[in-house]
Amino acid sequence: MALGRLDLFSGRFVYDPYPWLDALRSDSPVHHDPRTGFWLVSRHQDVRSVLLDPDSFRPDNAQNAATPLSVAALRVLARAGFRLAPALANNGTASHPGLRREVTRFFNAARVTAAVPMIERIAGELVQAAEERVVADGTCDLFSTFAQVLPCRVLMELLGIRGVEVSSLIRWSDASLELFWGAPTPQRQLELAEQVADFHRWLTEAVRDTAARPGSFTAALARHRLPDGSPLDPAAAVAACFFVFVAGQSTTGQLIATVLRTALTEPGLWPLPGHEPGLAEAWVEEVLRREPPVTTWRRVTARAVELGGSHLPAGAPLLLMLMGSGSDPEVFPHPERMCPRRENIRHHLAFGAGRHRCPGASLARTEAAIALRTAARRLPRARLTPQGTKAPMLGLLSFRAPLNVVIESS
Ligand code: HEM
Repeated sequence: MALGRLDLFSGRFVYDPYPWLDALRSDSPVHHDPRTGFWLVSRHQDVRSVLLDPDSFRPDNAQNAATPLSVAALRVLARAGFRLAPALANNGTASHPGLRREVTRFFNAARVTAAVPMIERIAGELVQAAEERVVADGTCDLFSTFAQVLPCRVLMELLGIRGVEVSSLIRWSDASLELFWGAPTPQRQLELAEQVADFHRWLTEAVRDTAARPGSFTAALARHRLPDGSPLDPAAAVAACFFVFVAGQSTTGQLIATVLRTALTEPGLWPLPGHEPGLAEAWVEEVLRREPPVTTWRRVTARAVELGGSHLPAGAPLLLMLMGSGSDPEVFPHPERMCPRRENIRHHLAFGAGRHRCPGASLARTEAAIALRTAARRLPRARLTPQGTKAPMLGLLSFRAPLNVVIESS
């Protein structure tokens, strides 16, 4: 595999990244990619050590636009007052721990456990509708009718989000991912910027109107005090909401899509996760290791450092290949095999590690396992159609998943 031909946005990479990720790990574990300017870090041990050392490897570039935005797109965003003040993933300052605590309060283990009946109810409703559609039309796309919708509805319940259509939140969240993590043409940037501007206007209104929503996430942000005792300025509150609303739904929808797709294609597996205790959870874990929705994450060096035998200057942008690290044979024997009984099944880095580790991990895992169990139970004879088998893939700098999971059933 000639690494000189690597193009992270190409169909070749997006459809089958494994040979490239293997070559990176074995031939050039800290590899300078001339197309993007990133240093690609691919061994599990190196990725983990970067994540666990936030003083040397700062998170400041985590949300920078992967492709420079056109003046016209920037103008559309500016008109909506859009700016992403450091809040969570891109915040290496003293305000981060307190803001992060506000988020974890909404998604801690106790909250997620208490939410299980609600998640099961929504999953049941959506799969029943999918079942009816298969009966009526012969096929149904489990991505757009189920995988995408479940995390959005659950997030709205947990955060107390009201007064907005589920379809708008999904559209805005997907547009945000494509604008900031994709390689859109100038024309497409303009369309996406209009969506993101609408999202930002709605968030600004929601942050302003917190009195009407006691118990909501925006109300918690309004009460929040920074380390110096001052309240959060509205731009930082909007930035925190922006990240949580996007991170909390699109990524989980992508995970559910890959979980369903892999479970439907693995010989002999479907519909076992519907009944075998623990199998749905273990399958989700193996998907997170081998084919996670968040494929990479960014850091920037705070000073000159040595990493995996390479010398990096201060200010070097790093792209941590989370997906590649889950297939590192030094940590996971036979990484290409999906092994629900793998001993170190949770040692993957799909949710990051350390100070910025994903606070939504428990929710994402729970939703995906419930989604798989519910679909396997209610649609035991489902199989992918030819359209589902050849589904196009979302291929952004940090996000990858099938864009449809079309099934039929006998
Ligand atoms: C499958 C689903 C998900 C995946 C794979 C995922 C992955 C990640 C990753 C890789 C990070 C960066 C970690 C780091 O820098 O060390 C992150 C951060 C974050 N995630 Fe998730 N995430 C998912 C779902 C969620 C959900 C459901 C929520 C909220 C409900 C959420 C909220 C956040 C937040 C707020 C951060 C920033 C945390 C901080 O900077 O302290 N994520 N996530």
